[in-house]
Amino acid sequence: MKFEEIREKEKNYLAETFSRFPVAFERGEGATLYDTEGRAYVDFGAGISVNIFGVNDEAWKRTVCEQLGRIQHVSNYYYSEPQCVLAEMLCGRTGAKRVFFGNSGAEANECAFKTARKYSFRKYGEGRAQILSLAGSFHGRTLFTLTATGQAEFHRYFDPFVPEVCSAEADMAAIEEAAGKNTCAVVIECVQGEGGVEALDPVFVKELARFCRERDILLICDEVQCGNGRTGKLFAYEHYGIQPDLVTTAKGLGGGLPIGACLFFEKTEHVLQPGDHGSTFGGNPVVCAGAGNILSRLDENFLLEVQGKSDYLRAKLAKIEGVERVTGIGLMIGLKTGRSAKEIALECLKRGLLVLTAHEYVRLLPPLNITKREMDEGLAILREVIQA
Ligand SMILES: Cc1ncc(COP(=O)(O)O)c(C=O)c1O
Repeated sequence: MKFEEIREKEKNYLAETFSRFPVAFERGEGATLYDTEGRAYVDFGAGISVNIFGVNDEAWKRTVCEQLGRIQHVSNYYYSEPQCVLAEMLCGRTGAKRVFFGNSGAEANECAFKTARKYSFRKYGEGRAQILSLAGSFHGRTLFTLTATGQAEFHRYFDPFVPEVCSAEADMAAIEEAAGKNTCAVVIECVQGEGGVEALDPVFVKELARFCRERDILLICDEVQCGNGRTGKLFAYEHYGIQPDLVTTAKGLGGGLPIGACLFFEKTEHVLQPGDHGSTFGGNPVVCAGAGNILSRLDENFLLEVQGKSDYLRAKLAKIEGVERVTGIGLMIGLKTGRSAKEIALECLKRGLLVLTAHEYVRLLPPLNITKREMDEGLAILREVIQA
C-alpha cells in the first residue's frame, strides 16, 4: 500500500491519539528501515528502545518462529516452560527472587505499585499506601501509572486520579518533605527517558536508597526504557550501586514483541499470592521465548560493545557545532541544541534519519547492535541538520 492510502485510512479509522511523523515503514534490516516507497532510513530510535537487536534479527526470529510452531498461547492456569526459563534467567542475572510477566511497561509498574501497597498493608495495616515518584518521570498511561507520572501535561482531563500517589523533585529535601509515615514506595527511573534523557545524580540516588531502607519504604526502579542493556549495563541501577526492592522492565526485553516484567527481590518475594494479580497474555510463550533469546545475548562482551558505541557516538556528537549538551548514559542519549527538537527530528526524517524527542532534547535510542557504518551515516545527517 502506498503511504497516502495508509494515511487516508488512518484519518478515517484510527483513534486520533498519535501525531505521527509522515512516514510508514514496511521492512528493515538491522538499524536500517525502508518505507513504503522503498526509501532507506537509519534508525536512531529502535521503536522507542524496543528493537534492541534491530529489525529482521535472524536469531530472535528463529526462536520466536520455533515457539510459534509449537504453541502460541497457554492460559496462566497451566505451567509454561518458556515463562519459567525466562524468569530463571532474569533472576540469575539480577539476584531477583521471582518475576511476574505482563504485556507492557505500564503493567509492570502497576504490578510493582500493587505489590508495594500489599507489602505495606500486611506489615503495617491500612493507610500506608503512598507511592512517591519524581518530577519529570514517566511511568505509563494506566490511571495508576499516569498518576505517578511526574509531568502535569499528561494529567489534563483524567482526574480524579488514584489517591496517595504524588511526585517530588529529585533532591533529598523535597523527598523528605513529600514522604511521610504513609509512604510505602518510591519509584525512580535512573535515567529519565520521556522526561528529557536525564540521568539522576548518583549522590541523590544513594541517599534516597538509604532513606528508603531506613524507613522500610520500597525502592522501585522503573527500567522500562533504560533497562535491557541500553546504558551499557543490563539495568541502569547497576551504575548506581543500589539494591532496589522491585525492578520493572518492558520494551527492549521483548525485542519487538510486547512484554512487561516485574522483578521481586528479597523483601517482596512472597507478597503476591494466588488471586492478587494476573494477566491473560502475560508470560505468553512466544514472547517469553523471544525475550530469552534477547537476554542470553546481552552478555558482558556485548554490553562492553554498547559502552564502546556510546563513547564513539558521544565523542562525535559533542564536537558538532550547535550541540550544547549531550546527556544520558550509554546508548540512551539526549542532545540539547539551540533549536526545537521536533524541528530537528523532522529535518532528520527528510534526510533519512529517525530520531526521537523528549521535550527540548533530541533523543537517540539506536538498536544496540547498530553498525559503525550506520552510526556514521546517522551522525553525518545529524551534523548537517544541527549545523544548518
Ligand atoms: C520509563 C517508562 N516507564 C513506563 C513506560 C510505559 O511503558 P508502556 O508504554 O509499555 O506501557 C514507559 C514508556 O515509554 C517508560 O519510558
